Amino acid sequence: MCGIVAYIGNKQAQPIVIKGLKRLEYRGYDSTGISYFDEDVLHTLKTAGKVSDLQAILTNTPENGATIALGHTRWATHGVPNDVNAHPQTSNSGNLVIVHNGIIENYASLKKELQYRGFTFQSDTDTEVLINLIQDVQDKEKVKLGKAVQIALSQVVGAYAIVVFDRQKPNELVAARLGSPLAIGIGENEFFVASDATPFVEYTKNVIYLEEEHLAIIRRNKAIKIRKIKDDLEVEPYVEKLQLSLEKIQKGGYDHFMLKEIFEQPTAIKDTLRGRLLSQEGVITLSSLREHENRFLKAKRILIVACGTSWHAGLVAEYLIEDFTRIPVEVEYASEFRYRNPIIYPDDVVISISQSGETADTIAAINIAKEKGAFVYGICNVVGSTISRITDTGCYTHAGPEIGVASTKAFTTQITVIALIGLYLGKANGTLSRSQYQEYVIELESLPDKVESIFASQSYIKQVAASFETSQNCIYLGRGYNFPVALEGALKLKEISYIHAEGYPAAEMKHGPIALIDKEMPVVVIATKKGYYEKVVSNIQEIKSREGRIIAIVSKGDIQVKELADYCIEIPDSSESFVPILSTIPLQLLSYFIAVKRGCNVDQPRNLAKSVTVE
Ligand code: F6R
Repeated sequence: MCGIVAYIGNKQAQPIVIKGLKRLEYRGYDSTGISYFDEDVLHTLKTAGKVSDLQAILTNTPENGATIALGHTRWATHGVPNDVNAHPQTSNSGNLVIVHNGIIENYASLKKELQYRGFTFQSDTDTEVLINLIQDVQDKEKVKLGKAVQIALSQVVGAYAIVVFDRQKPNELVAARLGSPLAIGIGENEFFVASDATPFVEYTKNVIYLEEEHLAIIRRNKAIKIRKIKDDLEVEPYVEKLQLSLEKIQKGGYDHFMLKEIFEQPTAIKDTLRGRLLSQEGVITLSSLREHENRFLKAKRILIVACGTSWHAGLVAEYLIEDFTRIPVEVEYASEFRYRNPIIYPDDVVISISQSGETADTIAAINIAKEKGAFVYGICNVVGSTISRITDTGCYTHAGPEIGVASTKAFTTQITVIALIGLYLGKANGTLSRSQYQEYVIELESLPDKVESIFASQSYIKQVAASFETSQNCIYLGRGYNFPVALEGALKLKEISYIHAEGYPAAEMKHGPIALIDKEMPVVVIATKKGYYEKVVSNIQEIKSREGRIIAIVSKGDIQVKELADYCIEIPDSSESFVPILSTIPLQLLSYFIAVKRGCNVDQPRNLAKSVTVE
């Protein structure tokens, strides 16, 4: 995710764009930049860091009276966050600039083609490829900017929200979107374009939310023109009235970032799969795996190092990778691993998992693994983070910025990457049959919709939460793939609501925890159909006979557990290996609603930091 702001009108553009970018920093904040056109000169200023860093640079430049500008706050997807990779990106002619949110999946082949025709590239971004493609079309076809953008976009595979400016046409902006949002604010003789309406909420309440695959031509003092990119039809702009408060818009209308991030999971999972999973063809493309396939296939063992929620994703990985590939997997807390003189063989593969890519214990564990000669593969969310740089290779989750301290979408997208890895390797070493592989691949693609469908239970989960608001303790139980989910559910509850919660493998109940059960004790049991359903039902009966209050996560259409449990939350059916992506969603919502009921600071719980960069 990145933030885009552009302005064309009669006011000084730069302060409007800068203020707007600050409001969009929740979308990304690793580098930033602005272009403005003043007295026939196109100025572009960019820097790694936050919008405040850009502001500091601007205070040292002469005042300008530009009334057209476009700016960007970046969450890197291609190329590390630095000044060169920051947006706006400029075309070879120096005439065109672009700000872009999204991922151009076929950028590598487009870049090759452009290089062949003499184009050169300064940055590692897919965005620089796109702006040069637009220039190429302009040069060849001699068409207006809007048409050139339209033709170029029809050659692009991926997702984009863009704003383009041509210094030869200084009274015009062209905006377009596919898969990433864009809102156009319509004021008195002025227009705003932004990733959401926050940047212009104090200037106008009239907004057009640009539709998928639509392109807008925005000219100074003229009516906006909107066209469909594919079939080239002009459409009537649909102007809506903005209702939202500033505060709400920054959180996309949600009360907390955590809730927003929970609801972003269908999109986040799609983004993780984008360009990597071609389900119809049965193809998984992970260049980092393809290039190092032999390291994985020859590994006698895979070691996983991670902390917290990422460690829980590691536990899911242990089950999944062993199931799919029959390669033994061990999962370690990075904080233990680094201090216990672990045995590591040079032919081990170490996978590190981290949302932030900055967790000190995980970094130390990676360094130890590297010293001992292991090959280290990193799964990270933050592009350009330390872990992404020190590992031998790896794969980004592309979940977008996670701002709520409690990790949600990072977890489900980490498991999505793990599923891709497991399937890729299982196919490569023949441990998955062709038909098993194909079934999994198709199911993986259906997961975002399945996650989405769980949100329909939101108000019921809120009701359930209200009954547990005053609880002091809570037990979470699951077996097999749902055991890590039980741990994750318990972690979510304790960190944001401060209720003591413990996760156990359901069968371990009888070895001690069952002594805790009485009529005051809420027990969350994940009892989905596939896996060890009958065994979990027996565990539920044991709790029931000791008067525990049971909240069960069950597969749609369940009958048996519904007769026993006090509350049942249904999730769609899925194969056992992918169930954690679904069963974790109601647990995130349950923790969230309990914490809200208790008046806790959900996004910034006490004593916790988003990224633990100290030991
Ligand atoms: C829990 C949570 C933490 C992190 C842990 C590792 O909700 O957010 O437990 O999972 O601090 O962080 P990363 O994944 O950034 O290495």
